[in-house]
Amino acid sequence: MNYNNLIISASEAGTILSEVYGLNGEISNLPGEVDFNFRVKIENVEGYILKISRPNEDEGYLDFQQKLLQFIASRNQKIIAPKVILDKNGKAISEITDSYGKERKVRLLTWVTGRIWHTVNPQLEDLRFSLGEQCGILTKSLEGFEHPKAHREFIWDIAQSLWTIKHINLFNKEENDIISFFQSKFENQQSEYTILRKSIVHNDANDYNVIVSKDLLNPKVKAAIDYGDAIRTQIINDVAITTAYGIMNHEDPLNASIDIIKGYHKTFPLLEEELPHLFASIAMRLIITVTRSAINKQKEPDNEYLLISEKPAWDVLRKWILISSDFAHYTFREACDFMPHPNQVKFIDWSKNNGFKFSNLFPSINKETIQPIDLSVESLWLGHEVDFNDLDLFSYKIKTLQTENKNKIIAGGYLEARSVYSTSSYDKIGNYGKESRTVHLGIDFWLPAETPVNSILDGEIILAINDAGDKEYGGLIILKHRTDEFDFYTLYGHLSVESILKHSVGDKIIKDDEIAKLGNHLENGNWVPHFHFQVMLSMLNFEVDFPGVCYHSQKEVWKSICPDPNLLFKSDDLKRRQYISNEELIDFRQEHLGKSLSLQYKTPIKMVRGSYQYLIDQNGKKYLDTVNNVAHVGHENIKIVRAGQKQMSLINTNSRYLHKNINDLAKELIETFPKELNVIHFVNSGSEANELAIRMVKAFTGQKDIIASEMGYHGNSNMCIDISSYKFDSRGGNGAPEYTHIFPLPDSFRGKYIGKDSKDKYVAEVQKQIDVIHNKKRKVGAFIIEPIISCGGQIELPNGFLPSVYKLVREAGGLCISDEVQTGCGRMGKSFWGFQLHNVVPNIVTIGKPLGNGHPIAAVVCTQEVADKFANGMKYFNTFGGNPVSCAIGEAVIKTVKEDGLQKNALVVGEFLKKELLELSKEFLIIGDVRGQGLFLGIEFVDSAMNPLANQANYMVNRIKDFGILMSTDGPDQNVLKIKPPIVFTKKNAVELLFYIRKILNEDFMKSF
Ligand SMILES: Cc1ncc(COP(=O)(O)O)c(C=O)c1O
Repeated sequence: MNYNNLIISASEAGTILSEVYGLNGEISNLPGEVDFNFRVKIENVEGYILKISRPNEDEGYLDFQQKLLQFIASRNQKIIAPKVILDKNGKAISEITDSYGKERKVRLLTWVTGRIWHTVNPQLEDLRFSLGEQCGILTKSLEGFEHPKAHREFIWDIAQSLWTIKHINLFNKEENDIISFFQSKFENQQSEYTILRKSIVHNDANDYNVIVSKDLLNPKVKAAIDYGDAIRTQIINDVAITTAYGIMNHEDPLNASIDIIKGYHKTFPLLEEELPHLFASIAMRLIITVTRSAINKQKEPDNEYLLISEKPAWDVLRKWILISSDFAHYTFREACDFMPHPNQVKFIDWSKNNGFKFSNLFPSINKETIQPIDLSVESLWLGHEVDFNDLDLFSYKIKTLQTENKNKIIAGGYLEARSVYSTSSYDKIGNYGKESRTVHLGIDFWLPAETPVNSILDGEIILAINDAGDKEYGGLIILKHRTDEFDFYTLYGHLSVESILKHSVGDKIIKDDEIAKLGNHLENGNWVPHFHFQVMLSMLNFEVDFPGVCYHSQKEVWKSICPDPNLLFKSDDLKRRQYISNEELIDFRQEHLGKSLSLQYKTPIKMVRGSYQYLIDQNGKKYLDTVNNVAHVGHENIKIVRAGQKQMSLINTNSRYLHKNINDLAKELIETFPKELNVIHFVNSGSEANELAIRMVKAFTGQKDIIASEMGYHGNSNMCIDISSYKFDSRGGNGAPEYTHIFPLPDSFRGKYIGKDSKDKYVAEVQKQIDVIHNKKRKVGAFIIEPIISCGGQIELPNGFLPSVYKLVREAGGLCISDEVQTGCGRMGKSFWGFQLHNVVPNIVTIGKPLGNGHPIAAVVCTQEVADKFANGMKYFNTFGGNPVSCAIGEAVIKTVKEDGLQKNALVVGEFLKKELLELSKEFLIIGDVRGQGLFLGIEFVDSAMNPLANQANYMVNRIKDFGILMSTDGPDQNVLKIKPPIVFTKKNAVELLFYIRKILNEDFMKSF
């Protein structure tokens, strides 16, 4: 066949449109496998799709499609589907003769506006859910429709997909193995599969046939189009097709399938017996796709449409084969509100009639009560990660607990989210960035090594191995037990390897037989000996081991596969602790805590543990923290924790007694300053530091007038608010008080004056404020500014600005204060303090956040002259300021910065990150400016007219949180992303951050300005 003789040009299509329908419009080509399709745009209407068949197309088949659309239109379902437009003669299908003299059938359908699924980025839960929902509605609205052409041989019908077997030789070995695996699986299920309920279904909700609304923030599926593949088949096939394409381009396709299936089930309830077939059916649809592509590659190498789905289909197949089909089945059941494991209820019922004692399991122990132990992420008993990784210390703690509870067995852990699993074998990259397995599926019993372990039931050994993974986990035994109605398994972990050697797979075990002895610490991943006991209702596809810990995102399914072992023992002591939900915490806050306390994120997070540059929530999800410049040397940095713990256990009192710590910290700090700045007052917060600084100014100059920057923030006390334009010029503020003089934010990117030459103009603005003060017949008290204005949006002061301003202020009799609450202690990289970047020496420096690494300690450093004038006879007493615990902590922070080379790290990693962000700004024009020093950076989002893009910045913060990265925005227009992580942030962290920033910059909303 001459392919060229088939083609209909757009202009010929235009002629046909006008002759057959009397319509004129702008015509363009659309892809299509069977028909030639054209988009018809007509002013003021949504438009049409003109479908011209290949020559001599079977009318019956087209009639099927038209009747089907007319049937849908006649049903009272909430559905958007293309409508049939009749021709001038009132016919749904018209006949024409084309320019080659060939007969064609022509149809016209209404156009559904929106975006095609495959162009939508990202395809998140809500969108996937709406995909399922719409396809379910469609299936519902096709119920009862019949047509002879719905019964036909069709290669795209999953029910008929075994035709692909004869083409298996088109694939290489790896591909062949994948395809054959699913083909056999599908073939083996035929007897139950063929009798599943059937209906006429759309059968082709592929990523080019699904229309999504144009709403970029909350997109929803509007409709499925192209009904050319509709057929009568098993309904589960339509679910499989919708899912197969909807899960493409996701790291974790099984996870992505859940929302689609939930949506489908909501509008078209799926039956329990259909779900075991979904896994293989999804694969078979993809196999049809790749087989068709392989065949067509040979026949029509130029027709790209035929190849379009091949790559993503292979991507899914390669991931799908790694998933246990049983696990997928249980996941689908969970999505459809069935108990994930079909035998869960049976097991619960069986266990009600079968009770066991702990002495059945450990005959030598003879204790029946349990002392619960908390190893959860938020366990205070567990303490610091360094502590629980210290074998001796942990053994000691367990021994102590045992001594305190002589008649009890220490045990617990079922469904506990733990952060003790730290090797990479517990991690994967999921649809939400890095995920770690944290949820414990069995019960741990803390007993001495060599404790004999008995089987509690008759059973058969199905596994007895030395479970050597990344760590050594000792001997592992799994027994299979039979009841009248179902089988289940019990797992015995951390056994002595020697004691399991006597067993072979297939050995029969009798109830109360000793099966092994408990292993030593080496057989317990180098941890304190404990015994792991777990129940499983299925072995899934595990043959040489079985997981004892699962991903939080899969918890509901796993807890059904691995029911609570305490169902067997019925110990009240072991009943799971109740955690306070986040909703309860929020409710209490709203009722009893200050109303102006805000919470971060639409769905607030509860953080329960810190670990250097990471924060960990109660489910063990780890977040990379790029926000927190308070945890300066890392959340819960062990050196700081220890310093505080040690001093706290000796004494904490006020500075009226002599103590070495206050002197030591002062000495550490003074070493970092120019010689002029050598007197220190310790306080408890940045606000208090600035408050004291202003008191010093008043004492020194006798003046009250303060010059500060627009959008500056200096603290929450009365005085500090009075000098913080960020507060008094924003919501709830009343503008600058009489004695505060604000000059414009010295932002040379988007401020009042821009560009390299802006410095003098901003200096002149400060001079103006000095003049204002003078005109009021008063004198300047002080000039206060941060070296990089944080709340202003990480604004770097123009080069040379600070020396000129300091000169003017001093000439006017004022003092110069550098607020280093955010910028100090090595964060700047090039210098220890921010003012040093500008070659100036302030009269007063205020220090806050980083000094205590989270502990409330702050300081005011000043010159001898200022200190002397301040000491005018009135005593300065501060109850907490300078106490031994705070000073021990502060000293540890400064020493850690120095000893661990963290200033250098801030420089190296910060410069790398800044350079890469600048590269990114060349590619993504939304990034107008990248600025800052060391690990104190800002990324400003603007459009081409330099308008701020706050919504995009907010979108970035919320989206990147989904991938486990915390960021924040700031600036007068909230369009600046701030990066100010703990300065232990590594280059690898920076690379990860850049990866996700780039990924999100590519999303539709980020490109929509
Ligand atoms: C620059 C600056 N100064 C002072 C303060 C006040 O510090 P604190 O919250 O410890 O009182 C802050 C707090 O964010 C700040 O950013």
